[in-house]
Amino acid sequence: MKILVIGTGAREHALVRSLAADAQVSELHAAPGNPGIGADATLHDVDPLDGGAVAALATALGVDLVVVGPEAPLVAGVADAVRAVGIACFGPSREAAALEGSKAFAKDVMAAAAVPTAMAHVCTTHAQVADALDAFGAPYVVKEDGLAAGKGVVVTNDHAAALEHADACLAKVGGKVVVEEYLDGPEISLFCLTDGATVVPLAPAQDFKRALDGDAGPNTGGMGAYSPLPWAPADLVAEVVERVAQPTVDEMARRGIPFSGVLYVGLTLTSRGTRVVEFNARFGDPETQVVLARLATPLATVLDAVATGTLGTLPPLRWRDEAAVTVVVAAHGYPAAVRHGDPITGVEAAERVPGAQVLHAGTALVDGVLVASGGRVLSVVGRGPDVAAARAAAYAAIERIDLPGSHHRTDIAASITG
Ligand code: AMP
Ligand code: GLY
Repeated sequence: MKILVIGTGAREHALVRSLAADAQVSELHAAPGNPGIGADATLHDVDPLDGGAVAALATALGVDLVVVGPEAPLVAGVADAVRAVGIACFGPSREAAALEGSKAFAKDVMAAAAVPTAMAHVCTTHAQVADALDAFGAPYVVKEDGLAAGKGVVVTNDHAAALEHADACLAKVGGKVVVEEYLDGPEISLFCLTDGATVVPLAPAQDFKRALDGDAGPNTGGMGAYSPLPWAPADLVAEVVERVAQPTVDEMARRGIPFSGVLYVGLTLTSRGTRVVEFNARFGDPETQVVLARLATPLATVLDAVATGTLGTLPPLRWRDEAAVTVVVAAHGYPAAVRHGDPITGVEAAERVPGAQVLHAGTALVDGVLVASGGRVLSVVGRGPDVAAARAAAYAAIERIDLPGSHHRTDIAASITG
């Protein structure tokens, strides 16, 4: 099988690493990729948001499957463009990706499918926002309707700050905000593969979204993750498939907008039961780095079954009896103003730590020197017989990496009680 992976992050590097290890894969390409991905796949300089260009590249390369990593190309219709030239694509259509691209649409689908989620009001005026904030009370949760790279959500006790964020979202063209009930409890990410009919869950993971230790500081794209979750209820995955993923997939099919790819279900385990916090239309970053590290079934077969509508015939997935932990190394200033160009050293030494691998995100090669070129720079993954061992491997590897001004959380998977 010849495969083209679209994207530039550590999530895509994890996908490429797993695909490279699959004997079924004869050729592996990526666009635009990054220097780490370039060690495992042939890179092509194509704009990932340009569906026509991606489809033309896929045709020229003669690939059997295109795998779209990030949400922006999906919302831009890249999967539609690839399918239109007769090539199988892992990732939902532009219309179906609205499950992530519009929080108001996602809430509407959840309501129709009786999926348990936070109560919410979709607002288009300042007055509606003010009423909704009063109705729910503090802590206030205010979300921009459209894609915002993890930065569109404000959770705060400060009424003025909640209103200010809502006003900023409303000021944008077509601005809409979702004000919702605060959900209290541990968060879980569960990736559910689907071909539009059958749903196959992967292993649950937990993401650490705040920038600083102790869940302090601003929200980020994700600073670390681990899997499995030894504290999660044993029936959680079955419950989420039955009450969330399958009804959502069925409702999308009923609307004539079949969803295929991965439905990322973000959940909170509240005292009143499991609630959906968000849907995404793609794999999560950094959770993918730990989930794929544990998946024993060769990945190409799985992604191909999703893309070709044959997931129902896939044998049950096999998992390694191991844990995985990833810690993100972020550039100076992340998630605010990020400094580019600092040199990165020690990656090879880090990969020599048993059980460790270093996945690239915001890296670039400048005159042969590996430098930071984005907010989240590296995703350092450790594997081991349990979470503590995996964690030790990840942090031992990080010790060997030097990136001036960088920061990372020191408490990823430190307390694994949820
Ligand atoms: P979202 O973009 O919807 O995934 O939200 C990003 C993060 O904001 C979530 O992972 C939560 O940590 C937090 N969040 C979102 N919605 C809520 C909510 N209703 N209650 C509490 N926290 C929330
Ligand atoms: N880990 C959060 C996300 O991928 O949205």
